[in-house]
Amino acid sequence: MPGLSPLELRQQFPIFSHHPGLAYLDNAATLQKPRSVIDGLTAFYERENANIHRGIYNLSAQATQKYEQVRRKVAEWLGAASPHSIVYTSGTTAGINLVAQSFLEPRLQPGDEVLISAMEHHANLIPWQMACKKKGARLCIIPMNRAGELDMARFREMLSGRVKMLAVTHISNTLGTINPVEEMIHLAHQKGIPVLVDGAQSAAHFAIDVQAWDVDFFAFSGHKLFGPTGIGILYGKKAHLKAMEPINYGGDMIRNVTFEETTFAPPPQRFEAGTTHIAGVIGLGYAIDFIRQLDQKAVRAHLKELGRQAREQLREIPGLRFIGEAKESSAIVSFVLDQVHPHDLATFLSAEDIAVRAGHHCTQPVMDFYGIPGSTRASFAIYNTPEEINRLAVQVREVQKFFS
Ligand code: ALA
Repeated sequence: MPGLSPLELRQQFPIFSHHPGLAYLDNAATLQKPRSVIDGLTAFYERENANIHRGIYNLSAQATQKYEQVRRKVAEWLGAASPHSIVYTSGTTAGINLVAQSFLEPRLQPGDEVLISAMEHHANLIPWQMACKKKGARLCIIPMNRAGELDMARFREMLSGRVKMLAVTHISNTLGTINPVEEMIHLAHQKGIPVLVDGAQSAAHFAIDVQAWDVDFFAFSGHKLFGPTGIGILYGKKAHLKAMEPINYGGDMIRNVTFEETTFAPPPQRFEAGTTHIAGVIGLGYAIDFIRQLDQKAVRAHLKELGRQAREQLREIPGLRFIGEAKESSAIVSFVLDQVHPHDLATFLSAEDIAVRAGHHCTQPVMDFYGIPGSTRASFAIYNTPEEINRLAVQVREVQKFFS
């Protein structure tokens, strides 16, 4: 598809025909779904539904084949060396918890350190915090400046022999900051420190190449990739996954079971206990097909331009302050308005059919850093238009008038 026409693209998203006036600016929370994903899910349930890895009959064999085809598709799309590095999870959160509990905890000793950044989502904070508490290790925070950029000089100093893991978000869901993850991985590896990158906000909009990055773990969610909720991916280097024990036990993850002893299947199956979200996997496959037919350069240019226009227009509004103004930022714009609570602002905007998120965005420490209870966040996707940004700016002004 040459170039990018948001208005044409919108036609592929049925939600907009049901809500023609909706300015959906909450794309960091979840993306809307294209027709191909919705139809693919329906077709699976209508015509192809069966459990996987279990049945001898055709339907089950076909469902298994499709399920494993998607694994290969994800591997290829991420630049992974092998589909065995691709673990199906319920989302980014589950992937990070798996790494914290199964990879890190057994390696962590009292006095060790785990590095995360000051801008992490709770999902890339609490799992490491809990692991540290259990093991008497220390959670250390890479600081950021007021613009919401990581202090890379301090980061370098923090990379000591005590550090057993670095976990960092690629793009901050609150500030929009794009972190220099490739450089961070490189620096951490010089000290032998494994790295997990939280790709929740980046997987849909950036070209990810896990081998070129040499990242140890990369986690993301299907629903932020135009796919279904409840399905996600954890990429892990094969050697790491091989060394990890499962944390959920049940069906489909075993090699052999007796009352005395159980041996486990090799990765990735050993991490996929129970009947997984098969339809979600199928839907994720269609979502990747959808992304692949987009001109990636045009996608990034469009999002960059939307972010720029939003900042340009909102900046003009007196009493409006951005939360996060990093030089490298994505199409996520957070702000506070003098004397207007973010929830009030979002409620007013909702009355004008503009959907934004307001609150702490699951990043309470970020709110503490800026000394605010919450912010209003507009986040953009390929189907958003400059006209929607105009509407946002006009209505923010209206709200401000109302409250002053
Ligand atoms: N983490 C998602 C967000 O930022 C839900 O809105």
